[in-house]
Amino acid sequence: MKKKSVILSGMRPTGRLHLGNYLGALKNWVRLQDEYMCYYEIADWHALMSDFDNPGSVTELCRDMVCVWLAVGLDPDKCVMFRQSDVSEHLELFFIFATITPLGWLERCPTYKEALQNVQDKDLRNYAFLGYPSLQAADIALYRADKVPVGKDQLPHLELTREIVRRFNHLYSSDVMVEPDEILTEVQKLNGTDGRKMSKSYNNTILITEESADLKKKVSMMITDPERIHPDDKGHPEVCTVYEYRKIFSADPASVEKRCRGGSMGCVECKKGLLEDLEALIAPVREKYRHYRDNPGEVDRILGEGNRKAREAAAANLKKFREAMSFG
Ligand code: TRP
Ligand code: SF4
Repeated sequence: MKKKSVILSGMRPTGRLHLGNYLGALKNWVRLQDEYMCYYEIADWHALMSDFDNPGSVTELCRDMVCVWLAVGLDPDKCVMFRQSDVSEHLELFFIFATITPLGWLERCPTYKEALQNVQDKDLRNYAFLGYPSLQAADIALYRADKVPVGKDQLPHLELTREIVRRFNHLYSSDVMVEPDEILTEVQKLNGTDGRKMSKSYNNTILITEESADLKKKVSMMITDPERIHPDDKGHPEVCTVYEYRKIFSADPASVEKRCRGGSMGCVECKKGLLEDLEALIAPVREKYRHYRDNPGEVDRILGEGNRKAREAAAANLKKFREAMSFG
């Protein structure tokens, strides 16, 4: 029998998870756990690289993240969920990679240049942040993962991972490391409630676990077609954020569009429909989330077990890598 592909993916605990994270990653992760050997990582070292001024919040967000993962259906019997900083092999392999990654590769990485330019509120010119892609490469190589589900923004990191892995195999005349391929998920892009990119810094997110009252408030504040004054005006769904959501979450977007264009549905009614659809998606997740949030012992046990399984695989692979290097 062919060996099951190994998948690794990770998420940085830098904010509470929103619908963008769900559509862009988690929904897909849940599907993949049935088919592959999946490792899902809470990338807290990666979060610390930018949030070093608030490590306590990173820790809190780690906990919150596992609760949401479990609530959306990641199943500890089907996948391994672990916290990066609990598996010390990540930093060991990171260091090995740091020795073989030329500075130029990191300095030229487009995500690095972009972050230095765009992030205004903190100084990212620290030693660790430059090495961000090397640590990500270590995350992936450590499990000898051959597939990595990521969004388009992460492709430069995948490319660097392959280059570092190739360099390792070449330098130590081995084939012990696996070159990973991305699984590029065609994701439905979801903007924030104000029509801009969904981001916690814009304060325009809808959480995967949003409370009913807050959800209602957020939907009611969404911008619709500004040319529509009366409910029977003919609408333009293509300029309307509510419609962008309805296209994704409604069972029958075609009829929404038709009624909007024909002027047979007012925006208030339309938002009511969106609220119902979102509530149907969120309510069961919210309920499970509360269960995990209120049972920290159970979450500790699940994460502890995930950490243990991850460590076991990581330690065995790291041993192989050091043998290939004739080091240690
Ligand atoms: N850099 C990724 C992001 O910001 C998170 C991440 C860390 C990751 N390690 C990983 C993703 C390994 C895939 C594989 O989204
Ligand atoms: Fe937007 Fe719906 Fe109003 Fe049309 S009816 S403008 S889709 S909110």
